[in-house]
Amino acid sequence: MNKRKEQVKDIWLYRHFIHMCKKHPWTFNTPIRHIEKLFLQHHQTLKKGAYFDIVMSRIGVTPEHELSYYRNELLSDKLLKDTFLRGSDYNKDLKFEKIYNKLFIKENYIANYYALIRETKPKIVIETGTADGCLTSWILSAMHRNNLGKLLSIDIPPQKGKLTMTTSLSINNVGHLIPQAYRDRWEYHEGDAKVLLPKLLIENDVDIFIHDSMHTRTHMLFEYNCARALMRPNTIIISHDILWNKAFFSFTASHNLKGLSCISGPNLGLTINKFEPYEEEIGLGVVKIT
Ligand SMILES: C[S@@+](CC[C@H](N)C(=O)[O-])C[C@H]1O[C@@H](n2cnc3c(N)ncnc32)[C@H](O)[C@@H]1O
Repeated sequence: MNKRKEQVKDIWLYRHFIHMCKKHPWTFNTPIRHIEKLFLQHHQTLKKGAYFDIVMSRIGVTPEHELSYYRNELLSDKLLKDTFLRGSDYNKDLKFEKIYNKLFIKENYIANYYALIRETKPKIVIETGTADGCLTSWILSAMHRNNLGKLLSIDIPPQKGKLTMTTSLSINNVGHLIPQAYRDRWEYHEGDAKVLLPKLLIENDVDIFIHDSMHTRTHMLFEYNCARALMRPNTIIISHDILWNKAFFSFTASHNLKGLSCISGPNLGLTINKFEPYEEEIGLGVVKIT
């Protein structure tokens, strides 16, 4: 396909993307040329069905299985299903059966929170924002199957009306959707990500970072930049709710990274922590004085 045709295809995707973003007014309040620049240069919204393969090829991994294999694996996880369907015992405000039926078939969620973990077999993953633990439980289910890995979760227990949360949970019920059998790979850290994230990133060699805590521009940029500065090259940064503001797009643009999301769920973004050779030569991470 020649370059012009490729651009037209991207503009079609971009139009579709804008259509999907109706709920997120910043896209409409931002000059079109600025959005075009963000989407066409630093972000790629991938067609349905292509997301997983393209993410895998950017990471440099030839997948052992197709995404449909992992969808079936996830759907056949009876422990996970049973724990989900009992979720209302802990949180009466959410309809877990509805969440199960909707979420467990979504391409971009299965790709980022399950198939990616199964294929890349990370040793350490950090997530910010756990609450009920919908997606936390998927990561742990994948690690359980891999028989490898540890998930470090940083979370302030949600309180209705605070930090954009609509439900409350006590500290003991954070992550109630994680089956008991998968908890040996889980380490919960209660507290503000502003304090705990840099600490844990320095103390651990983290393969994947996932943001799903406070979705203000300042906080998102803080978390992305911590991950960027404190993780090895070629590690993975994933973010939920990238359409709440321009933080993810500004982050990828300012570091000359490519953001990826799937057209069927453009609110979930991924980027690979790549560096220019000169940055690697000068040095990355924390400088240790001996
Ligand atoms: C959107 S919920 C997370 C949903 C979760 N990932 C899931 O899949 O079920 C956001 C969580 O982040 C917590 N949170 C908000 N600001 C935070 C901060 N600064 N540090 C740590 N956690 C925070 C909220 O209290 C809430 O528990």
